[in-house]
Amino acid sequence: MFITLEGIEGSGKTTQIEPIAKFLRENGHQVVTTREPGATPTGKKIRSILLDPENSNISTLCELMLYGADRAQHIYEVILPSLKSGKTVLCDRFADATVAYQGFGRGLDINLIDKIYKMVANVEVTNLKPDMTILFDLDPAIGLERTFKALKQGERSENESRFEQERLDFHERVRRGYLEIAKREKDRFFIVDASTSKEEILNKIISQIRFKTKL
Ligand code: TMP
Repeated sequence: MFITLEGIEGSGKTTQIEPIAKFLRENGHQVVTTREPGATPTGKKIRSILLDPENSNISTLCELMLYGADRAQHIYEVILPSLKSGKTVLCDRFADATVAYQGFGRGLDINLIDKIYKMVANVEVTNLKPDMTILFDLDPAIGLERTFKALKQGERSENESRFEQERLDFHERVRRGYLEIAKREKDRFFIVDASTSKEEILNKIISQIRFKTKL
């Protein structure tokens, strides 16, 4: 099974990935937790280019291609081998992030984004698509406040703050983008209100996974 977590900055998905993995492991799944960008040695190098605020002049197309390159390596090195060996893959951000950030956020053509995904995932052969996507929905003003607090307290590195430097309207477009994708694919998406407590969020996600996987 392939499960992805999506949401804007500060929506809390990274905090929930281990508790979700723990629940799945306790219920017999062999779980691989992973993320984009930066899950492979090559991807880590790509991540540092993408998130470095000094690279403020990266063009939108260059950014799109770098996310595509990271994803190609991630799929080849981690996702497909894990799924083939029967493991459950739990991934912090995947292809929907490109539609939300580069498509809705930056204004790039969604058809081009889809084409690149089909190419990097070799979709005609692999048919790769998440079975379930959990969308952590949150007001970007709250998300950014949380992220800036984490930056100030040193919990998140300044070297990874290129997207946090974007203005609020960018993050609002990203949020709207995610909600739009979720509306188009109601069966795959589960939207959780990320403004509530960590416990409440986890309980809702676990109930949904139980329902979907008949655990
Ligand atoms: P994070 O892993 O710390 O959440 O940071 C990843 C950043 O990269 C985040 O700001 C969202 C952004 N991103 C994109 O813009 N497009 C993508 O396809 C992915 C996977 C992430």
